[in-house]
Amino acid sequence: MDALQITGQRPLSGRVSISGSKNTALPFLFASLLFDQELSFENIPRLWDIETTLKLLEDMGCSYSWDKESGKVRILPRVTQKIASYDWVKKMRAGILALGPLVAKYGEAKVSLPGGCAIGARPVNFHLEALKRMGAKVEVEQGYIRASVPSCLRGAQIVFPEVSVTGTENVLYLGALAEGETVIENAAMEPEVVALGELLQTCGVQIEGLKTSTIKIKGSKLKPPAKAISIPADRIETGTWISIAMATQSELTLENAAGPELAAVLKAFRKMGLGITEKEDGRTLIITPKSSYEAISVETECFPGFPTDMQAQALVNMCQAEGISHMRENIFENRFMHVAELRRLGAKIEVEGNLARVEGPTHLKAAPIMATDLRASASLVVAALMAEGTSTISRIYHLDRGYDHLDKKLQKLGAQVTRVAQ
Ligand code: UD1
Repeated sequence: MDALQITGQRPLSGRVSISGSKNTALPFLFASLLFDQELSFENIPRLWDIETTLKLLEDMGCSYSWDKESGKVRILPRVTQKIASYDWVKKMRAGILALGPLVAKYGEAKVSLPGGCAIGARPVNFHLEALKRMGAKVEVEQGYIRASVPSCLRGAQIVFPEVSVTGTENVLYLGALAEGETVIENAAMEPEVVALGELLQTCGVQIEGLKTSTIKIKGSKLKPPAKAISIPADRIETGTWISIAMATQSELTLENAAGPELAAVLKAFRKMGLGITEKEDGRTLIITPKSSYEAISVETECFPGFPTDMQAQALVNMCQAEGISHMRENIFENRFMHVAELRRLGAKIEVEGNLARVEGPTHLKAAPIMATDLRASASLVVAALMAEGTSTISRIYHLDRGYDHLDKKLQKLGAQVTRVAQ
């Protein structure tokens, strides 16, 4: 298992290019299950979650090629078994995205239950209820969801009790091939959901209400996309680099950035005092550090609010601000696992329920620390870059699941980061 050794307090400089969005690429790759023809993708990030998805598709009978240097992927969807096995889904919860396309296209699926994870129980009951309402028979046995469509998949009104990103995506796949109209109420408005909806629109599906909480989908026969499907920039990677620039007090230029999809994050960091200049409609961001920062209060919300996937990183920057900052986590029930590790570096953070109280400014000092989940790992990298001395972050595989060569990108900008086998 790899670890990262990071020596902090080194100023970085230069330009960094943001990779393709993980949470857009995954539903796009699963969308290939809806087709008979080969699909081509561009700007696919080099991530373990992409590897896992491609292997899972291969396990189902699909063949693929992936040129990691150019980011090009081709998938020939020849499904022979409609099964997403535990071996893959346990590595990546987004494996639940196999459910919608398999049931939509083949009328049956056996998909492993994802199980809990470090940030909470993360059930999939909304996905299953939606399937039932659309005419599927759904059973859960021996850790697997078994879904089948006795007659035909029909459009229905789906009211999500809470906003769910992958839940909305699964219903988009189902609605695209169902008979009649599907209406999703309390739909997710995240850019990744909008991107999937727009992809389906280019394939002939009539979809209204993307970017709103009510989406209407008219099922139809799909035509394959006329050209390669390109993955937009990752908004959470963009935010993580803003966090890194502030932590290291470095002026950085972020290229191919997701500025327009990150308004709430830009607002919060600007409120702390960080300089952020948007160029080329927010696709280039210039981050300029300041000598002192102000405490802020932030809460995580569904899009367009402050994303839960930036909570851990922002918490580290709150340690730089003068006074008491507050961070309320509203999306997941147990997403402060990184706090115990940050405290090992000297961070003054208290957690009560879903509220973290951060006292700053605090001088962080290096320590051995351990990554617990993807975004927690990113926050530990940010903290280690800020801390005095050399920290070792173990279980770094979490980071490799969702960040495209973060260590190499950091090295290019002058950071002292070494990957070691542990
Ligand atoms: C997606 C993102 C993840 C992000 C999260 C919230 C992907 C691959 N992952 O995860 O990075 O942190 O959105 O923005 O896109 N819930 C239920 N029952 C369900 C489904 C969800 O109770 O059937 C709850 C969850 O436990 C959570 C909330 O709803 O409290 C939101 O979860 P959801 O939006 O579904 O997260 P994911 O789609 O898994």
